Amino acid sequence: MQIIRTVKDIAAFSKETRGQGGSIGFVPTMGYLHKGHLSLVKRAKEENETVVVSIFVNPLQFGPNEDYDRYPRDEERDLALLRDAGVDAVFLPSVQEMYPHGKPLATVTVSGITEPLCGASRPGHFDGAATVVLKLFHLVSPDKAYFGMKDAQQVAVIERMVLDLNVPVSIVRCPTLREEDGLAMSSRNVYLTEAERRQAPALYHALETAGRLLAERPGLNAGELAKELRDFLEASAPAGTIDYAEVLSYPDLAPISGALQKAKPFIVALAVKFSKARLIDNRLFAE
Ligand code: PAJ
Repeated sequence: MQIIRTVKDIAAFSKETRGQGGSIGFVPTMGYLHKGHLSLVKRAKEENETVVVSIFVNPLQFGPNEDYDRYPRDEERDLALLRDAGVDAVFLPSVQEMYPHGKPLATVTVSGITEPLCGASRPGHFDGAATVVLKLFHLVSPDKAYFGMKDAQQVAVIERMVLDLNVPVSIVRCPTLREEDGLAMSSRNVYLTEAERRQAPALYHALETAGRLLAERPGLNAGELAKELRDFLEASAPAGTIDYAEVLSYPDLAPISGALQKAKPFIVALAVKFSKARLIDNRLFAE
């Protein structure tokens, strides 16, 4: 497995690999890898001759009061996991390497769909993520890039960027991997206290409840469902504060009027703040 730290070397690696004719699968990450990340790598391995993973904690997508400095990092462990997974190259640039001129003046702005959900409490986050992903796409030039539906709004943003800017890459949506009790795997789960960890599966249970309510109550609308989920979360995760519990169309993330129906895909999206971690989860309902 090649460990590549500079822009020059990753560009050379991609050029050489493309010259050999095989497809490149790319999995961008911020490291502190778990089985969720590795499921994306596995899928990329199945579908491409060469797999590249990036590990870069991107300062541009963290707000001033967010956890950039204390975001968990463990390069050695990550590299061992990726080696075991059969990855061909890992791109691990420094901040200086990615942003040699400081804060970039040219950035990507995706409007509209970045406003609700996580965009409302994390202004600038999705533009920061879209900007780094576009830079990485230019450097790695993948045929396919793999993203987890755990971050469904991020998937919508990246898909839209690729569509609107004619970026020559296919975005592959991958399912959310969960702990045995349903908690969605996340690098930030390590921030949870023991008591919070016990309540954290409430997000998953709320999504299950959403599925049940939709089956039991035909005609249920977005507002009614969201209210049920807020009540459920307040009762089952009292240690947390609800940031949002919303039902929106997907991938447009627009409000839905009238009865919910899978013929018009919609997402149930939740975010709950605990003392040191803000957890998100969602479920897409589509035919
Ligand atoms: P990060 O949070 O490290 O996630 C990297 C990828 O792993 C994302 O596509 C994310 O959706 C996916 N992922 C995380 N948890 C998952 C789970 N439980 N099951 C399946 N997939 C999961 O998302 C980012 O990094 C960054 O924003 C990035 C795209 C790298 C840009 O900086």
